[in-house]
Amino acid sequence: MTPVQIRAARPEDGPALAAFLKDLNYFHRLEPLSLAAVEAQVERHLALCLADESHSVYLAEGDSGDILGYTNVHWLPYLFLPGPEGYVSELFVAEGARGQGIGTELLRAVKAAAARRGCWRLSLLNMRGRESYERAFYAKDGWQEREDAANFVYEVRS
Ligand SMILES: CC(C)(COP(=O)(O)OP(=O)(O)OC[C@H]1O[C@@H](n2cnc3c(N)ncnc32)[C@H](O)[C@@H]1OP(=O)(O)O)[C@@H](O)C(=O)NCCC(=O)NCCS
Repeated sequence: MTPVQIRAARPEDGPALAAFLKDLNYFHRLEPLSLAAVEAQVERHLALCLADESHSVYLAEGDSGDILGYTNVHWLPYLFLPGPEGYVSELFVAEGARGQGIGTELLRAVKAAAARRGCWRLSLLNMRGRESYERAFYAKDGWQEREDAANFVYEVRS
């Protein structure tokens, strides 16, 4: 396995995270954007994530400081729950580094942070057509699929 270090993201990680996302070739909507435009978007959102304790971004860093993966989690207080829910909005590992335990390590960091914060549960969305779903990545990591839940989005675009 590639040696990795999991650490909290810092504001100066923006450009490397933007390059990581561009190289991932996973998002159609990033394809037509220049690296500078992706950088501007990532830096804007990373600044919001790091502005207070409501979000955590963790990076998996390789030996030479290169980003091999990252995850983004948002700590959501629900009035009806005894503790917050952590919502994992992003989890990505570089194509050449998959299947070596890095995604599992990033989730381990999220679970540890959730325990420290007294969270009630973690949740995430996994599209059923994705390889990660077909290979039961989350189920094997102990996540339970909520088969009775429908996932809704309301598109708000400017
Ligand atoms: C899903 C993902 C985060 C898992 O991270 P990883 O470091 O590859 O996973 P790990 O090595 O910790 O765990 C191994 C498991 O990951 C999954 N996995 C391994 N290679 C994978 C690949 N190329 N694509 C998707 N899932 C893969 C499998 O479930 C594997 O278990 P298996 O070998 O028993 O089938 C990563 O593969 C990835 O970034 N995929 C593309 C983006 C994605 O689907 N993100 C999740 C969106 S919710």
